[in-house]
Amino acid sequence: MSMLSSTAPSSIKAIAFDAYATLFDVYCMEALAEEYFPGQGAALTVQWRLKQVEYTRVRTMSGQFKTFWEVTRDALVFAARRLDLDMSDTQRQHLMNQYACLRPFPENMATLETLQAMGYPLAILSNGTHSMLDIAVKYNDMSHLFSHILSADSVQKFKTSPEVYQLAVDAFKVPKNEILFVSANAWDACAATWFGFTTFWVNRNNQPGEVLDVTPTASGRQLSDVLTYVGGLQG
Ligand code: LAC
Repeated sequence: MSMLSSTAPSSIKAIAFDAYATLFDVYCMEALAEEYFPGQGAALTVQWRLKQVEYTRVRTMSGQFKTFWEVTRDALVFAARRLDLDMSDTQRQHLMNQYACLRPFPENMATLETLQAMGYPLAILSNGTHSMLDIAVKYNDMSHLFSHILSADSVQKFKTSPEVYQLAVDAFKVPKNEILFVSANAWDACAATWFGFTTFWVNRNNQPGEVLDVTPTASGRQLSDVLTYVGGLQG
C-alpha cells in the first residue's frame, strides 16, 4: 500500500483521529501489569485490549450499550480470569486508573501541532467516554489542539457503527470524503473507509492489511507520516 494514493481527494478540510492506540499508547500500562503479575504483563495488556474491542462490538450488535469505561473494566476482569491471575480490586482499580495518564506516542505532539499550524481543524473521534478523553487530553496538555472531542457515548453505539463516524461529519460540517480519518486500528480505518471518509492507517507494527474488501486510502508507519500525506496533497 502506498503512502500517496491517486484516489485521495486534494481537498482534505479537517482531520479526525482515533484515540486509543493511535494518539495514546494503550500498552504503556504493561509496566504496572508486569509489576503486579511478573512475566504476564504483556499478555495481560494484549488480552485486555482484544477483549475490550470485542465487547464494544458484541454490545453494539446486540443493542446493549455500556460506556467504554465500563467495557474496559469488564474486559480487564475477563483478561485476568483468562490468564488465571488473582487480581485484587485495588490492582484492578490501579490498572484502570492508568487510562487517566496514557501518554501519546513520541512523534504525536509535534505532528498534531504541525497539522494545526497548516490550518486543519483537528478532532478526536473515539469509543472512549467524554470523561476518559478529556482527562487524557488535559493530562498531556493537548486541549489547544482539538476543535472537537467526539465520543461514541453521544450515540450510545461503538465503532464501527456509521453513527459514530457521522459525529465528525456533523461537527466539522464538511463532506465525508473531505475529512481525513486517522487510525492505527486497521479495522477502524477500513470501516471508516466504508463510511466514506478519506482514511489513513498508521500501521505501527507492520501488520498485513485486513481482508475486508476495502483498503484505507493511504497508510504509513507512524503518525508523522500523515504530514507527508497531506503535504503531498497540498497545492
Ligand atoms: C477508540 C478505540 C477504537 O479510540 O481505539 O475509539
